[in-house]
Amino acid sequence: MAESMQGLKRSHRCTEVSGQNIGETVTVMGWVQRRRNLGALIFADVRDRSGILQVVFDETHIGSDGFAKAGALRNEFVVAVVGKIQKRTAAVNEHLKTGDIELIAEQLRILSEAETPPFPIGENSQTRDEVRLKHRYLDLRRPDIQRNLMLRSRAVHLMREFMAKEGFLEIETPILCKSTPEGARDYLVPSRVHPGSFYALPQSPQLYKQLLMCSGYDRYFQIAKCFRDEDLRADRQPEFTQADMELSFVDIDDVIDVNERLLQYVFKEAVGVEITLPLPRMPWQEAMDRFGSDKPDTRFGMELKDVSELVKDCGFGVFTGALAQGGSVRGINAKGQGAMPRKKIDKLVEFAKGYGAKGLAYLCVNADGTYKSSFAKFMTEEELGALVEAMEGEPGDLLLFAADKTKIVWNALGALRLELAEELGLRNPDQYQFLWITEFPLLEWSEEEERFVAMHHPFTMPMEEDWDRVDSDPGSVRAKAYDIVLNGTELGGGSVRIHQNDIQEKMFEVLGFTKESAHEQFGFLLDAFQYGVPPHAGLAYGVDRMVMHMVHADSIRDVIAFPKVKDASCLMTQAPGEVSEQQLEELQLEIKAVYEEER
Ligand code: AMO
Ligand code: AMP
Repeated sequence: MAESMQGLKRSHRCTEVSGQNIGETVTVMGWVQRRRNLGALIFADVRDRSGILQVVFDETHIGSDGFAKAGALRNEFVVAVVGKIQKRTAAVNEHLKTGDIELIAEQLRILSEAETPPFPIGENSQTRDEVRLKHRYLDLRRPDIQRNLMLRSRAVHLMREFMAKEGFLEIETPILCKSTPEGARDYLVPSRVHPGSFYALPQSPQLYKQLLMCSGYDRYFQIAKCFRDEDLRADRQPEFTQADMELSFVDIDDVIDVNERLLQYVFKEAVGVEITLPLPRMPWQEAMDRFGSDKPDTRFGMELKDVSELVKDCGFGVFTGALAQGGSVRGINAKGQGAMPRKKIDKLVEFAKGYGAKGLAYLCVNADGTYKSSFAKFMTEEELGALVEAMEGEPGDLLLFAADKTKIVWNALGALRLELAEELGLRNPDQYQFLWITEFPLLEWSEEEERFVAMHHPFTMPMEEDWDRVDSDPGSVRAKAYDIVLNGTELGGGSVRIHQNDIQEKMFEVLGFTKESAHEQFGFLLDAFQYGVPPHAGLAYGVDRMVMHMVHADSIRDVIAFPKVKDASCLMTQAPGEVSEQQLEELQLEIKAVYEEER
């Protein structure tokens, strides 16, 4: 029978009491973690979001009725206990914050009974994700998830506090929008009032924040929900949260400066991580050449080396063939891995193929200076010697090479580098390696669409010194864009925006927009720019990703209260779901066909 709380008021959370409170009467409320009957004594661990407190029931203090009630307690019952804090009579529990005290119960109320949960509520659940997410309200009771969400709340609070101090205004932007071009697919919302018309959920507040700059709100900030219909990964959700900002009358260094101080403040106050400023910066080209990635993990070496020049005349057709096609040959040196068994090397080859490589050529430097290699027979001793030297190969090393279009080589070796580092334990989770990537290409050639697309978005300012090449060599124009990278993930990104109409119109032209289509999609922005627009720039962080790093979570789901799974559905609410005929009617929508297997 559930009792009421009437007459009781919680005085402390479970771990807000300590040795300081010995002898005091307190009232705690929470969930029963477990109960043990030891004849004359009953022990119950009571849990709330702060942690666990041991409660002791004996008949002298609680009376016979209360004692019987305590004997009936089961896991996850919600209780209120009034009693006195005393020093623990049994051995101190080092694992608990309250391990040296206990609560001698004088009153017990069962506020709610509970069914046996489908999985134990505890740290580091071994339960399958599907079961956890179906019962997310129970999963959210687990202490590790509770710690994650409490830290998330703290981190967001710290950001708000910092931004307010720096003069940023928090302004909300709409969720029902026109499509924002961040490159992913939009989520659409049909309009009832305008049948056949749709809102798009924002992929980011990009256009609105630029408009706010036009309107004079010279420092804007928002914790913004963003929606992108794209394939999910371990660090991607269809709806996620950005810490989004925009500043007027600034250039790159101003944005970087305020953001470095923001990161320093938030990481220090939230997780005690000291960040030394200024953070290193690396141009995009260098990042690709050295790490095969625009979000390099720089906690370890194993850098890529371009050996194209060395092998251009060798007898190995795979290498010369790739070079003849305009590609390159690059390698990495897996230090000390020369004795790797063939089977394992084959696995690496397969791994590289998963990233588009056609293969992976390897060379082990044996202790006696000879080589074990998939291609040594095609090369002279001299060529091999030069190659090993270029790779800084020493006896015991494993050299891995990919030959292909440079983009594929970067991709495959960049991924392989991370894979090897993971296996070899080179990615120290306690090290926080921040890095700005700058000077991104403005445009990226899309094989699919056979046209240039914006690498960041169409409002990104080109670098002035490159702009005169926009017609002759558009691919070589760099942008005033920057990403902040942490340990190999893109934490945030932004750019200086175009504020000159002529550059913006040219940009649209390069991207293949007609004047009409550009005006149809972004007319309001172009119009706004006619009425006096300040130079402006901004950046947005992925808040979920930032918190993931702070708590060392493997999955973005562990830092989001109600996340979606891979197919973008919610296992708990079963969203997305079908709607009634009447709802469809009101929206004047008709479902053409539903495939059986999708039901
Ligand atoms: P961008 O598209 O780089 O820039 O997004 C900014 C940051 O948001 C995070 N992020 C995601 N996090 C989780 N799930 C996703 N699906 C997801 N997609 C992106 C990343 C990323 O770095 N308007 C621009 C910013 C600007 O130019 O000011 C923008 O949205 O951490
Ligand atoms: P093959 O000529 O296909 O028998 O390949 C000979 C060796 O070169 C094998 O070890 C392949 O894995 C490797 N290889 C094949 N294609 C490539 C490539 N594009 N880059 C690097 N190595 C490759």
